Amino acid sequence: MIFDDLRAIQSQYGYLPGEQLEAMSKRTQIPLYRIHGVADFYPHFHLKPPPKVSLRVCSDMSCHLRGAPALETGLKHRFQAMSASDVSIGVCSCLGQCDGAPAISINDHIYRGATPAQAEALVLTALGGSDLPHLPSQPNTTALASDPYPGAERYGALRRVIQTRDWDGVIAQLKASGLPGLGGAGFVTGMKWELVRKAPGPEKYVVCNADESEPGTIKDRFILENLPNLVIEGMILAGLVTGAHKGFLYIRHEYQAQEHILQSEIDRCYAEGLLGSGILGTDLVFELEIFVSPGGYICGEESALIEAIEGKRAEPRNKPPFPVISGVFNKPTALNNVETFANVPQILMNGVDWYKAQGQGGAAGLKFVGVSGDVRNPGIFEIPMGLPMSEVIYHHAGGIVDGKALKAFAPSGPSSGYLPASMVDVRLDFKSLAAAGSMLGSGAIVVCAEGRCMLDMALNAVTFFRNESCGKCVPCRMGSQKMVDILTGWTHGKGSRADMELIDELTDALKLTSICGLGQFAHAPLSSVLQHFRPEIEAHILQKQCPEGVCPMREERVL
Ligand SMILES: Cc1cc2nc3c(=O)[nH]c(=O)nc-3n(C[C@H](O)[C@H](O)[C@H](O)COP(=O)(O)O)c2cc1C
Ligand code: SF4
Ligand code: FES
Repeated sequence: MIFDDLRAIQSQYGYLPGEQLEAMSKRTQIPLYRIHGVADFYPHFHLKPPPKVSLRVCSDMSCHLRGAPALETGLKHRFQAMSASDVSIGVCSCLGQCDGAPAISINDHIYRGATPAQAEALVLTALGGSDLPHLPSQPNTTALASDPYPGAERYGALRRVIQTRDWDGVIAQLKASGLPGLGGAGFVTGMKWELVRKAPGPEKYVVCNADESEPGTIKDRFILENLPNLVIEGMILAGLVTGAHKGFLYIRHEYQAQEHILQSEIDRCYAEGLLGSGILGTDLVFELEIFVSPGGYICGEESALIEAIEGKRAEPRNKPPFPVISGVFNKPTALNNVETFANVPQILMNGVDWYKAQGQGGAAGLKFVGVSGDVRNPGIFEIPMGLPMSEVIYHHAGGIVDGKALKAFAPSGPSSGYLPASMVDVRLDFKSLAAAGSMLGSGAIVVCAEGRCMLDMALNAVTFFRNESCGKCVPCRMGSQKMVDILTGWTHGKGSRADMELIDELTDALKLTSICGLGQFAHAPLSSVLQHFRPEIEAHILQKQCPEGVCPMREERVL
């Protein structure tokens, strides 16, 4: 596998020396241009020697709200006298620790709630050649309604289904529950599994998408840590029901602690005969392995993820065909989110009526949401689907910091755009949020207090999409950059009315011609603030003023 070889070289040399790539090409018979194409695509691989210490401050929404810009500026100032080959200070995209913002990464070790003093001490530790400490995991201490096995034997749903072998019955139950995919798009899981089951051919795959890289999205991290057995049980059930004999659990490389938890659980399953050939003494087979993502938000898009599993650049495929027909190695593939798989044993153990009764206001099931930004108690919460947003923000997350008023919230990171405080009673479910002009997405609630500038927040979110665009299609690659340029100009008092027309054209081009959801939703943060906070945005363009006093306004336009 190309990534294993690249990782082995990088771990030996600290980067990927040209002669080592040539030797790898000869050894593996993989053309050098392909190896380069792959190594060059993923930010995790270095083609040049990296500095001794590379510190990256997460610059995305939740960290932006919790002091990341000042932290980065302060650290740059502190280490400016050091040579670039010793210390490099810069920014990175969301590290999956949005509830512990600001998050930083130092030589691939991740830390939460970083202060300037702690960050400085860690840099000096790394410079001195000492080992960096590991981020301690934070085990959950409250009982979870999503756990169908509190104090009882686990994998009960799997044991039952193996006895009856009623695979169609499982699909019928999932369809009756209406379990939507919980990775964002909401496609009905029972239908997805049925399509793969009915697809012809003996070779099929199951994939769990644990890439979770959109700013604010942290709920899968919690599920992987606290309910890993449910995710694995859901994947084995998917394999047996669809006829797939092999599964990949695709996890972002920053989730090392969760990877270890999952690997221990997988090892236990093999030892107990729940995985492998001859599951529980039958002729049933399902092999499961963890695939560590080489990096990047785009890897979470299902077809890009599949390309990565195949050892290629994670560039989304044109669809159709969808993965249910042509997925991993062009074979039918049941690909679901972590939380979707975790729901399957719950439904099979507790029944469809129980599942439906967990929701509120006409919605079904339980939902894990992450809340970050300007709240007193950021974290991951298990809530009934359909709970009003106000309950989540004021009850679960403890309300707004420093007794401030709520100004806006993103129901699901940058893709969902921002809604104003007046809409805080919206229910958290697919239908209600779509009706509000937003989306439930991955349940990544990011909260903005009074005093935040919504142009600054829109620029931050669009910049994330610009940074993470894979560049495969021109409208997304160029359009997201153009949008960042225009918004940056507005924050510097360089806007004009004519920009609005250009923004409308860009928005249409991105929505209509981008291959994947990243490009299609890149306009959402800006469109939403133009809809809900127009006077505030226009003040920047027409009066050259930032009403909240956040934007630089008089400085030179930065392109
Ligand atoms: C740019 C982009 C990133 C995505 N990232 C994730 C992700 O990290 N996790 C995830 O489950 N789905 C992600 N998705 C959605 C997946 O493409 C896919 O719809 C989902 O994994 C299917 O699982 P589900 O049906 O259980 O929701 C992403 C989509 C896009 C366009
Ligand atoms: S829309 Fe953007 S991220 Fe998606 S395939 Fe095109 S360039 Fe890549
Ligand atoms: S860790 Fe910074 S936004 Fe997620």
